[in-house]
Amino acid sequence: MRIRVSPVRRLAGRVAVPGDKSISHRAALFGALARGRTEITGYLEGEDCLATLKAVRALGAEVTRKGPGHYFVDGAGLDGLTEPEDVVDCGNSGTSARLLVGVLAGQPFWTVLTGDESLRRRPMDRVAEPLRRMGATVVGRREGSRLPLAVRGARPLRALSYASPVASAQVKTALLLAGLWADGPVTVREPAPSRDHTERMLAGFGARLAVTPDGVTLTPGAPLAGQPVAVPGDISSAAFFLVAGALVPDGEVTVAHVGTNPTRTGVLEALAAMGATVRPEAVSGTGSAAEPAADLVVRGGALRGTEIGGTLIPRLIDEVPVLAVAAALAEGGTEIRDAAELRVKESDRIRAVAGELGKMGARVTERPDGLRIEGPTRLRGAVVTSGGDHRMAMALVIAGLLADGETVVEDTDCIATSFPGFLTAVNDLAGFPAARADA
Ligand code: S3P
Repeated sequence: MRIRVSPVRRLAGRVAVPGDKSISHRAALFGALARGRTEITGYLEGEDCLATLKAVRALGAEVTRKGPGHYFVDGAGLDGLTEPEDVVDCGNSGTSARLLVGVLAGQPFWTVLTGDESLRRRPMDRVAEPLRRMGATVVGRREGSRLPLAVRGARPLRALSYASPVASAQVKTALLLAGLWADGPVTVREPAPSRDHTERMLAGFGARLAVTPDGVTLTPGAPLAGQPVAVPGDISSAAFFLVAGALVPDGEVTVAHVGTNPTRTGVLEALAAMGATVRPEAVSGTGSAAEPAADLVVRGGALRGTEIGGTLIPRLIDEVPVLAVAAALAEGGTEIRDAAELRVKESDRIRAVAGELGKMGARVTERPDGLRIEGPTRLRGAVVTSGGDHRMAMALVIAGLLADGETVVEDTDCIATSFPGFLTAVNDLAGFPAARADA
């Protein structure tokens, strides 16, 4: 599918975004490992999180859909998972694959995991290598570093104290989950704090977790008990409207009930540094997951360039493509550094941003670990492609709304991995069909 985008002069109104992707994956997976029922509301019914539901079903958990985003997961308990009959396909979802490898490391059976073309290119050694140290067998393509991977777990696994070379919540979570079947504590340290949904939610399920300046430690032995989980809206999806709302001079955009966990709010800090005002309203915590949420209200105005790097990067890593759109239109230069991780996301997002926004006239220089963007530019409509990356597709649609003339974004089916309903939300705010699907 391709999307034709017309420029907008005004964006106004209130939109809801679907449930948080990271929290949804964890609710399904932890629910499958718990005894009893986990009732999930606000679950993200995008392809990535549906892949996790399918995987936990294949491993023996019972999943019942009660309504839109509303699921019961009746868990198998820590000793109850069973060998899947077939290969487990994680589709485009790195979170499904990496978190599952951690779980499978502790299971006394074989499982084979695979994924789509993009996921089969992404590095898995970051989880496979420490899990091997714990005693699991993980074999696969490229010396066991790429999907398909076959995992034969061991029980008990060995305790581990691990300093991860990357700030990655997927690595941290995979190792802590494997720790549930270890013979002693598992500690993970990171070069910078990554999102902490696992720490919050797994503790709520009953796991013994300690967070200290020296890392996160899971001490095995405690059973997990099913919990209600109310998933707030995904700030990574909200970011598209926060950027668009900040750049369109006229109007005010409210994104309702967005998760505002401080390990995820880097995009708000970057926008504030660029001169945008994003006001939180109706602040709340949600359910047992103890995840804060708020309505986010943004008003349009002139933005200026900024510097984004260091510990801010893991707190806005998925928002860089759309922040690059903001930077292209902002007054002055923007430097994004310490973000080499962008090269191993659903696509090489450093190359993709430079190449595709470049086609629209943006002045973007690729750096090994980031981007230099000179603004302001008047973006011009062009034919661009997502390269199969959902966040690139949506960032380019936002760029199209702010450009002169028509923009055509190709290869946009991938939007369904994280944000079904994206076009409807765009058009609701525009007040006319500014972005139209065109098969
Ligand atoms: C995620 C962690 C991040 C993020 C991804 C979701 C998670 O990846 O980019 O979209 O749910 O744990 P890394 O752990 O690779 O940084």
